[in-house]
Amino acid sequence: MTTISPLIAGNWKMNGLSQSLEELTELAQLLTTGEAPRAVVVVCPPATLLSAVAAQGASSGIMAGGQDCHTEASGAHTGDISAYMLADAGAQFVILGHSERRASHRETDDLVRAKAEAAMGAGLKPIICVGETEEERDAGRAEAVVAGQLAGSIPDAASQHEVIVAYEPVWAIGTGRTPSNDDIAKMHASIRQALVERFGEEKGNSIRILYGGSMKPLNAREILAIDNVNGGLVGGASLLAKDFYTIISAV
Ligand code: G3P
Repeated sequence: MTTISPLIAGNWKMNGLSQSLEELTELAQLLTTGEAPRAVVVVCPPATLLSAVAAQGASSGIMAGGQDCHTEASGAHTGDISAYMLADAGAQFVILGHSERRASHRETDDLVRAKAEAAMGAGLKPIICVGETEEERDAGRAEAVVAGQLAGSIPDAASQHEVIVAYEPVWAIGTGRTPSNDDIAKMHASIRQALVERFGEEKGNSIRILYGGSMKPLNAREILAIDNVNGGLVGGASLLAKDFYTIISAV
């Protein structure tokens, strides 16, 4: 079985002004003065703070990521940002297909897949989000929904690039609710199986599967210990350096 180094990514969403960089400074201090983190640490701020996070994080090993990108490298797309621009600003990762974008911007699996192709083309590692709604879970369709999103959102070219999958049940995001450990284990096992079936043993077993949705300092340790959970995608709790550091240290 391939050993996967865990990764903890903070998704700041549309939160953070320049003073938020003080939290980053505090996080950097905690990471460099405490025990060396056992996880790869990524912070995905709003695009306005990306260059600053990339520059400021570099000395403490914090890597930067974007929260979305366009499918094109450049052009007449007012308000959008391309994968090349993210990379140019210092990003190494980009979150794609987050349920908030799937819902508010009507992003489809096809679009997410095209964005992932663009991201890989620009040298970024896409963090591709999947996850069911509460209604879909109640109807017993959670695994089928996630399988469909995986099949549609991950490009074939992922076989040649580093991609990361984030399982984020929509109903767990920002609600303080999480699936049971058993349910997380079952979903991550089924994602692993789908990755192995599609990309083969070696590649399929090397792709990180992150859990996201109300991961907090209090529950991180037990969630991160579940089989096939190779890290976390953290929203609210990544905004405070101390909380995020506690989650990173729980790996
Ligand atoms: O992408 C992270 C996310 O959606 C989870 O957010 O606030 O529940 O940790 P939160």
